Amino acid sequence: MCGIVGYVGEENAVPYLINGLRKLEYRGYDSSGIVVGKMVNNKPVFELYKKAGKLTQLVGVLPKELAGSWGIGHTRWATHGMVTDTNAHPFLSNDGKIAVVHNGIIENFQTLRSALEKEGVKFASETDSEVIPNLVARFYKGDLLAAVRDALCNVIGTYALAITCVDDPNKIVVAKRGGPLVIGLADGAYYVASDVSAIVGNTSRVIYLEDGDIVEVTPAGLKFPKIENNDYAKRIEEITISAQETEKCGYDTYMEKEINEQPESIERAFAGRFDMEKATAKLSGFEDEIFQRTNKITAICAGSSYYSSLFGASLIEKYARIPSYAEISSEFAFKNPIVGRDDVYIAVSQSGETADTRDAMTEIHEKGGKVFGICNVPSSTIARESDGGAFMHAGVEIAVATTKAFSNTIMIYYLLALKFARQRGMSKEDGAKFIQEILHQPALIRETLKNSKKMKALAKKYSKAKDFLFLGRGLMHPIAMEGALKLKEISYIHAEAFASGEIKHGPIALVNEKTPSVFLVPDDYTRDMVISNIKEIKARKGPVIAIGVEGDKDLESIVDEFVAVPKVENKDFYALPMLVLCQLFAFYMAKELGCDVDQPRNLAKSVTTR
Ligand code: AGP
Repeated sequence: MCGIVGYVGEENAVPYLINGLRKLEYRGYDSSGIVVGKMVNNKPVFELYKKAGKLTQLVGVLPKELAGSWGIGHTRWATHGMVTDTNAHPFLSNDGKIAVVHNGIIENFQTLRSALEKEGVKFASETDSEVIPNLVARFYKGDLLAAVRDALCNVIGTYALAITCVDDPNKIVVAKRGGPLVIGLADGAYYVASDVSAIVGNTSRVIYLEDGDIVEVTPAGLKFPKIENNDYAKRIEEITISAQETEKCGYDTYMEKEINEQPESIERAFAGRFDMEKATAKLSGFEDEIFQRTNKITAICAGSSYYSSLFGASLIEKYARIPSYAEISSEFAFKNPIVGRDDVYIAVSQSGETADTRDAMTEIHEKGGKVFGICNVPSSTIARESDGGAFMHAGVEIAVATTKAFSNTIMIYYLLALKFARQRGMSKEDGAKFIQEILHQPALIRETLKNSKKMKALAKKYSKAKDFLFLGRGLMHPIAMEGALKLKEISYIHAEAFASGEIKHGPIALVNEKTPSVFLVPDDYTRDMVISNIKEIKARKGPVIAIGVEGDKDLESIVDEFVAVPKVENKDFYALPMLVLCQLFAFYMAKELGCDVDQPRNLAKSVTTR
């Protein structure tokens, strides 16, 4: 996934291009670049700067006085071609007149490249994107919008594009198919971006482009050929996030901010979603009639969303007794799945743009199934293409490794379990108790966050370890998986999660004095079995860090490190506090090792490639 920006207006384009790319860096940060258009002696010229590395590398090479009234920019997550200056966007056509920034994948780029090379075009980069400016140049006869339209008729793949021509100053043509693109509208100025976080603060009026949109953007306004009479006013929406949400608000990193704002963000996940009278959850996006009828619920998801869905499936099965599953999207999409008449699917994706999950959705829709989305970005593709669902309401999540979006997904699964269980036999009294447990979660997490210093000390003590095991049983197994992923993602230390009952069936061979095991130990039916697993590790001199429940002295006495979460009534509500301690452990480990917690190497906030 990459981030693109564009500007036309009366001001200098450069500040917006750079600040916009800074807000979009979480989408990819291998390399970046801008093209700025300006008039020199009444003649329009381009200035192109692009650089491998993070945005600061590009800023370091920009002339201080760089200015121009229009421009485009790009921050990259490499899909085709190494991370080099040459492979950075923007790309120019051979004649230097057409400049393009692209997010997506051109699937037939080799065919297009060969055809263009036969016509004498020379390519400088190894990327798929470089075919676009040369294809547009081939069709350009003075009308950029027409040239882009004609060029894209030859393209197979996904794109969010911003294209400009030096001979057609103060104009950008944008096009969308499969990658997000939004236009901000201000007086006499227009802001293009991959998502609103780059635009917020410049204007509150936006248009979210839809697949198939090709739009000409000039200071005089927009030209939407697809819209009758160019009446695009009905497409204008108000931005729902504040500029403050995209700032660090006093924290050094977005990740620390987002870990610590989880009490507030999970409140947003359940706000307004209870029917206290009926002691159930109100999730109108999950049609009662469909979910009362179904006998199979399957989540399609990737990465952390897969782990939250493994948790959710177990929870729904336990309380609503509906057979529920979580499937890895990239596997599900291509296994010719059996989609039963009443089967229901839930697409879980914080970004709402994950290509694997979109493929799985397409396959389900192809087979007549319904897909309900749980997303954090309302304007995202998955949110728009779902047959219903619920938003996470976690707020903008900028750190690449998810934290609050994950915990909000867990919260929505608690609400779904309650809703379905009350439709299928849970008593009103039990429903009311379940609601009280949900309402208590923010306070529980606030209390748990007080362990930050302890987790920081633990991270420092074990920062030399090269491998970690994470273990949990039942509902804690997927939480252990997420804990291992957090550590891997941001500290680059190898970490593997197991159902703790599995450790003796082979993985125990990994245990040694240098490999710490992190155990999640709620005081529920699994506790005694987990303690047996801990003893098996201790018998082989493996260091054990136990995340347990306050007052569990027996557990504390047999492990090397003990961190406790407050006791809860319903033992199925330890997931989020124990998760938060795993997040803090990973965060402080990464800080201890000097890693970039917000933009870990090789990652991107949403993986829009297969
Ligand atoms: C989360 O920390 C990871 N970066 C990654 O596993 C992520 O959860 C996965 O790519 C799915 O993303 P999505 O929720 O936006 O679909």
